[in-house]
Amino acid sequence: MVNAFTHEVPAARVVFANGSIIRVGDELERLGCSKALMVAGGAEGVFADQIERDLGGRIVGRFSDVVMHVPVEIAQRAVAVARRCDADSVIAVGGGSSMGMAKAIAKETGLPILAVPTTYAGSEMTSIWGMTEGRRKTTGRDPKVLPRAVVYDPELTVSLPVGISAASGMNALAHLVEGLYAPAVSPISFLQAQEGIRALASALPRVVDDPSDLDARGEALYGAWLAGWTLGTTGMGIHHKICHTLGGTYDLPHAPSHSAVIAYATDFNAAHAPEAMRAIVSALNSAGISCSSAAEGIWILASRIAAPTSLRDIGFDIDAVEEVATIVVDARPINPRPVDVDGVRALLIAAYQGARPGGSLS
Ligand SMILES: NC(=O)c1ccc[n+]([C@@H]2O[C@H](COP(=O)([O-])OP(=O)(O)OC[C@H]3O[C@@H](n4cnc5c(N)ncnc54)[C@H](O)[C@@H]3O)[C@@H](O)[C@H]2O)c1
Repeated sequence: MVNAFTHEVPAARVVFANGSIIRVGDELERLGCSKALMVAGGAEGVFADQIERDLGGRIVGRFSDVVMHVPVEIAQRAVAVARRCDADSVIAVGGGSSMGMAKAIAKETGLPILAVPTTYAGSEMTSIWGMTEGRRKTTGRDPKVLPRAVVYDPELTVSLPVGISAASGMNALAHLVEGLYAPAVSPISFLQAQEGIRALASALPRVVDDPSDLDARGEALYGAWLAGWTLGTTGMGIHHKICHTLGGTYDLPHAPSHSAVIAYATDFNAAHAPEAMRAIVSALNSAGISCSSAAEGIWILASRIAAPTSLRDIGFDIDAVEEVATIVVDARPINPRPVDVDGVRALLIAAYQGARPGGSLS
């Protein structure tokens, strides 16, 4: 039986190839733009330099003050820079933080984004924006912020440090896992999510063993594309709500938080999403990971690539459990298993301890 579904395909054009950074100029032209503001954070600035050299006068400004979770006052400055230099487009180079800043500009000005991602976060494939004010992070969907073109060049990810690669890969995996058990997930999104898990589980150990392995980098970025697309076309559940709270309210690092929580969120939902669990196990098995449950397999993968498996290890204060659980429950995440304070508390404590999940949360 085919379950009822709604499938909306985001309109981003995707170019995926080694060396495709040289095609950014053509893609800008295709968008009918010639005055781009470049948004690029720290280490990814070298790729922005290269694009600037290639595009010459078509880059009319540069914004490098990229901060994770997009603090509202910095976003306002970025919008002012885009207006001051009379940009007709934004080229965003980097991870989710660069994408987030570009989206803040697009949300306000309607300028089209051309995205050149260099991590596995997946923001380039979604119309989701996020902004932080005080201790609260707000997110929403707006078609204006969906990048109009995405240039995936695996060569740009070779310099991504191993630790960031591993955690960022687990961030992508979390999009895929929650997409699989999203309500009304379409058959296409389901297949793409399963394939994304296979690709990441196969590639990430090879990336960690040899960060310059371009085949592995390509497969990981391919998995990340599928993950971003899944995030953009389905809904996310308890896991994303917890990580959103950990980042927005407690300033925990984004990708490591996802890495530390996803095995336990999967364990929490296991009995309520059997089809998704079977798909995860099957994808992990095809990538050579043998496991007795989806949660265990995810934990084995994270351990294999030395990505965080414990909230304690990334600086979470256990005294905050009650507050996080209350915020998450109040946010009413759409999740296969009903979400209550006792359940979230147990999940957070397990994620804090970081032991191999054994089905105790289900
Ligand atoms: N809106 C969405 O759909 C969505 C999806 C996923 C993540 N996000 C947001 O994205 C942010 C996190 O993104 P992230 O995890 O990619 O982190 P990030 O963009 O902050 O990048 C992490 C670090 O890696 C460095 N880096 C990036 N590419 C590099 C490269 N090729 N070589 C060397 N260093 C490199 C960056 O300079 C940074 O220091 C969060 O704010 C999160 O909320 C949004």
